[in-house]
Amino acid sequence: MRRLPKLALLAVAALTLTGCMRGCTSPRPPIHINPNMDYQPRVNAQAESDFFYDGRAMRMPIPGTVARGELRTEPPHFYTGRDENGEFIAISPVGATEEVLAHGLHMYTIYCQPCHEKRGTGKGIMYEYGNVPVPSFYADTARDYPDGEVFDIVTNGKGLMQGYGYPLAPADRWAVIAHVRQMQAERPREATP
Ligand code: HEC
Repeated sequence: MRRLPKLALLAVAALTLTGCMRGCTSPRPPIHINPNMDYQPRVNAQAESDFFYDGRAMRMPIPGTVARGELRTEPPHFYTGRDENGEFIAISPVGATEEVLAHGLHMYTIYCQPCHEKRGTGKGIMYEYGNVPVPSFYADTARDYPDGEVFDIVTNGKGLMQGYGYPLAPADRWAVIAHVRQMQAERPREATP
């Protein structure tokens, strides 16, 4: 019976000296008893593929189909801010009703205020903390853009500003523009610095 502690000690020593405790790395893959659907053929965005004749893994929309949220029921300038000659439209196709302005203010607070500041002075939190130079909406430059150009800036971005075409649907963008125009109408013009 006196041998038992010794044996136990040996067993522990063997485990600690030779075995791999937690946190030990191994070049071998872990044993995966039930792989379920963990391993499946998949492709990355923009990747090549031998499977399709054109070599692209990503597929083009099927002609005649409309993706969800992509149905265009308004005239083309509503989605581009440009007329049929490619010029920016002067006046927004969306009237500044109370409802539109309220929605514009809401969207502005979420998506524009961090940089452009609540009143559109350009001295938002990003300017305060990050020193990001943001132009004022009361300067000549911002006032004198046709509505279509502001739509283009909000959609695609400009200089340091990224585009907001993805989070903001066209109707949201026109609502934000209505709000910006209302702010501009309420404050005096500033010379562009
Ligand atoms: C992350 C910061 C940031 C956010 C958020 C942002 N902007 Fe801007 N915006 C800028 C900067 C910086 C510029 C100056 C770009 C340049 O000319 O290099 C700018 C420029 C503009 C201009 C042109 C002004 C001029 O005088 O040329 C308009 C119009 C504008 N933004 C509208 C918006 C609207 C509307 C939103 C919300 C949907 C928005 N921006 C959100 C940073 C931002």
